[in-house]
Amino acid sequence: MEELLRGWDGEHVVVRYDREADAWIFIAIHSTRLGNASGGTRMKVYDEPQDGLRDALRLAEGMTYKWAGVDFPMGGGKGVIALSRPLGTPERDGLLERYGELVESLAGGFSTGADLGVGPDLVQVIGRETTHVFGTRIAGDPGPWTALGVFTAIEAVAQELFGSSDLSGRTVLVQGVGDVGIPLAKRLWDAGAQLKLADINAKHVAGIAEELGAEAVDVEALYDEPCDIFAPCAVGAVLNAQTIPRLCCKGIAGAANNQLEGPEDAGRLHERGVLYGPDFICNSGGAIALLGLEALSMTEDYVAAKILSIRDTLKVIFREARENNESPLHAAERLARRVLERGPA
Ligand code: PHE
Repeated sequence: MEELLRGWDGEHVVVRYDREADAWIFIAIHSTRLGNASGGTRMKVYDEPQDGLRDALRLAEGMTYKWAGVDFPMGGGKGVIALSRPLGTPERDGLLERYGELVESLAGGFSTGADLGVGPDLVQVIGRETTHVFGTRIAGDPGPWTALGVFTAIEAVAQELFGSSDLSGRTVLVQGVGDVGIPLAKRLWDAGAQLKLADINAKHVAGIAEELGAEAVDVEALYDEPCDIFAPCAVGAVLNAQTIPRLCCKGIAGAANNQLEGPEDAGRLHERGVLYGPDFICNSGGAIALLGLEALSMTEDYVAAKILSIRDTLKVIFREARENNESPLHAAERLARRVLERGPA
C-alpha cells in the first residue's frame, strides 16, 4: 500500500478498517482543484485490500478528468469498500451506515453516490447517516442518464467511423447488462441497432437478450466477437495487451470506468485502428445528472442537453486526434487539463 500511495499524484486518502465486517474502506481524494471531491462508491470483494486501494486511486483520478471534461465545479474522488467476503443484508447495511458516518465526518469534502456494487437502493442506506449523497432526492438512479450519454457517444463514434450517426443496422456489443447496460441496450434497440449482449451472469443476459430480440454472447468469446462498436459497461481494465489484439470492432464507447488497463493501451488501440471514445467523456452522463440535478440546481431539460453535448465534445476530440494522428484519449486529456489549469469557471 505504501508503494501505491507514493506513486499516486492525488491529494489524500482516508483509510478505515471496519472490524465488524472485516472490510477496508478507502476514500481517495485525487484533486480539489475545481471544487469539493465527488464520486461514486464501489463495493466488491477483493482478493487483497491493496487491490481495493489501487481501484480507489485510479477511479478518483478518473473522476478528476470526468468533472474537468464536463466543466463542473467538482473535484475527483472515489470511495471503495473492499470486502473480504460477500455479506448478508443486515451486515452489509450496517457497514454502509458506518461508511455513511465516515462520509459525514468529512463535512462535504467528499460526496458520493452509486457505482459498481452500490445501486440506488444502497445509496439510500448510506444516506441514513449522511446528507453528502446524490441520487436520493431528484436524480434517482443515475444508470439511465449514463446510458443516454453512452448512447450519444456511440452515435459520435459511428459518425466519425462511417460518416453517419445512424445506428440502424450497426452491430453494437454491450458488455455488462446492469444498471447502465440495460437502459443502453433498450436505446440501441429502439435506434435499430443489431445488439449483442454479454454478462458474467449467463442466465441474466439470456433473459434480457430474449426480451430485446438480441443475441447473447458468451463472455469467454466476447473479445473475439465481430461488431461495429464495442460498449464496455462492466468492470475496468478490459482493454489490455491480451484483449486488444483480439478485438474485431471498429470503435469503442462504453460506461465502464478505467477501461484501459494502462495508458499504453490507448496506443495499442490506435495502432490497430480502433477508434476509442475516452471513458471519462462517454460515461459522464450519470455524474452530470446527479450533480446537475441535486447540487447545481439544473433543470432536467438542461441536464439532458448537457448530456447530449457529449456528442459535440467527442466530435472535437476525434477531429483533433485525427489531425494529430494520435489516440482520442490524448486529445481528451488535453481538454481536461486545460480546464484544470484554468481552475473553476
Ligand atoms: N459512479 C458514477 C460515475 O463514476 C456516478 C457518480 C458520479 C456517483 C458522481 C457519484 C458522484 O460517474
